[in-house]
Amino acid sequence: MFPSVLTSILYLFSAFLSGVHAAALPVCGAPQKPVVSTRGKTVAYFGQVRDQPTDSLSKFCADSSVDIVVLAFSHIIKGKKGLPGLNLAGYCGDPIEGTDLINCPEFGTDIKECQAQGKLVLLSLQGSMGTQTLSDDSAACEYADNLWKLFGEGTGLDSMRPFGNATVDGFDIDNENGNPQGWPTLISELRKKFTSASKRYYISAAPQCPRPDRSIGRAVYLVDFLFIQFYNNYCQTTGLVSSFNQWSEDIAANGTVGTKLFAGFLAASGKGTGYASHSEMIGYISQIKDKPNFGGVSTWDASCANNNMDSNGRTFLKAMRDSLL
Ligand SMILES: *[C@@H]1O[C@H](CO)[C@@H](O)[C@H](O)[C@H]1NC(C)=O
Ligand SMILES: *[C@@H]1O[C@H](CO)[C@@H](O)[C@H](O)[C@H]1NC(C)=O
Repeated sequence: MFPSVLTSILYLFSAFLSGVHAAALPVCGAPQKPVVSTRGKTVAYFGQVRDQPTDSLSKFCADSSVDIVVLAFSHIIKGKKGLPGLNLAGYCGDPIEGTDLINCPEFGTDIKECQAQGKLVLLSLQGSMGTQTLSDDSAACEYADNLWKLFGEGTGLDSMRPFGNATVDGFDIDNENGNPQGWPTLISELRKKFTSASKRYYISAAPQCPRPDRSIGRAVYLVDFLFIQFYNNYCQTTGLVSSFNQWSEDIAANGTVGTKLFAGFLAASGKGTGYASHSEMIGYISQIKDKPNFGGVSTWDASCANNNMDSNGRTFLKAMRDSLL
């Protein structure tokens, strides 16, 4: 039921995690794509905004400026039938009867296409719509189990899988409701499932920049990637470099899994406070990209970033790539 592992994906990302620049593995009959050596990866959230009618998951996966796509959001922990919910408001809306899930076969196809290009697709949990909390360990265990069955390699809920037999590459915790309880248990339960999986899975989190994050808490020390939101807060723009440095020290001191830190930017002005232009963003990245636990740059969101061009016609996504060269 699940696609077999592409060794090149594993190779690219294990090389990334161990800090080694990735090189393409030769594939029989396929032309070898030149791999741009950068100091990190680019990450774009996707699913809530559609600025252009042609926007799609496959479009952003085909964009050489994007390395990791984060689907936004699974916004309900336990909804109808006791299952999580899914909202991809900009793109997919056909409900799966009796649940808060939606049927998105085109996303299933596109997820596989992304992965075949060596890119990761993560599913983001909660977002600002996510008001539910994890009341105790058993709620976190049940949630992990359902996520794994609906979006990972678990079986038992096959007819309700929004993306069919496509599997995501992991989960992103974007809890913003002020209650950090249960997330460390969710992470440890998911990681138990990952140990017997057919490929490597990842967990990320998206704290806001003030530390400690009131909604994610100590889970920040248990994830592979942190996509830190440097906007809508005092630690945005002129506060970014010192805040990033403090995050970097915290993770170096208390992290458990070699967490990589990403600086998160708004993709366009008017989407919140703390927008940094293409050149301002590149300026901030130049001041933090030598940190040993620097992972790259992330943005909310792909559609806005693709639509936001500077005076040279360069998209914000391309500027993110350029910031890492
Ligand atoms: C996955 O699902 C697609 C679409 O339903 C189907 O064509 C394909 O055969 C399935 N693959 C596996 C390995 O089950
Ligand atoms: C983590 O590390 C920092 C040092 O940068 C320390 O100040 C902080 O209290 C530590 N612990 C937690 C739980 O954040």
